[in-house]
Amino acid sequence: MFPVTQGGPAPLTASPSVRKSPSPKYSIELRLSLTIHFLMPRRTPPPHPSSLQIDIHAFIESFVNTLEARDSYTAGHSQRVSDLAASLAHELRLPSWSASAIHIAGDLHDIGKVGIPDGILLKSGRLTPAEYEVMQTHPVIGFEILKGVKGLGEVALMVRHHHERYDGKGYPDGLAGDDIPLGARILAIADSFDAMTSNRTYRPVKTREAALEELWRERGRQFDPYLAACFCGLQPGRPATAA
Ligand SMILES: [Fe+2]
Ligand SMILES: [Fe+2]
Repeated sequence: MFPVTQGGPAPLTASPSVRKSPSPKYSIELRLSLTIHFLMPRRTPPPHPSSLQIDIHAFIESFVNTLEARDSYTAGHSQRVSDLAASLAHELRLPSWSASAIHIAGDLHDIGKVGIPDGILLKSGRLTPAEYEVMQTHPVIGFEILKGVKGLGEVALMVRHHHERYDGKGYPDGLAGDDIPLGARILAIADSFDAMTSNRTYRPVKTREAALEELWRERGRQFDPYLAACFCGLQPGRPATAA
């Protein structure tokens, strides 16, 4: 038998670092309760109104359609640009998150036109240099609208740069080549193609073939040469030189 010392160090069995086992009855109940807890299917709490899942893409398309109703000449433009850009992104085998961002940026690329006065946006005929300068603010207005929206940072940049040119002569920042975000280079091609093949007040509509010829001619100047060649190759009626 071990001697018990009064006032000395406590014996090993009484050390605070060694816990007493729970009674067998308590232990079984606890274990059963934990087993049942982890085996039961998890119940999802009801969604809080602020976290409701909504189809944000469908909402964006509907919202942009409403904005475009302001100008009958551009009705459907953003949707077509979005679809053309998405098909090029798909052809390039971009990751799905990137293709989705480009698709959404296509819908929103001209959202900044909401800040352009009717007298300029709806003017029939050519814009004066001063009016054109105001019109050129729409990519930055769009960027400012979108930049604070969580998850739309890349989209906001594509919107800002969709009027840059590959040779650096575009706006608003005069970026050139690969400094222009890839999505913005794709949007520039889709946007120009749709603008050329759609009815506008200030210029006659071009045939698809003529529009593709222009894209092909402008590769390396206005447009990324590789992307322009891919786009021309995708479209029916592509120029013979792009075959
Ligand atoms: Fe634009
Ligand atoms: Fe546009």
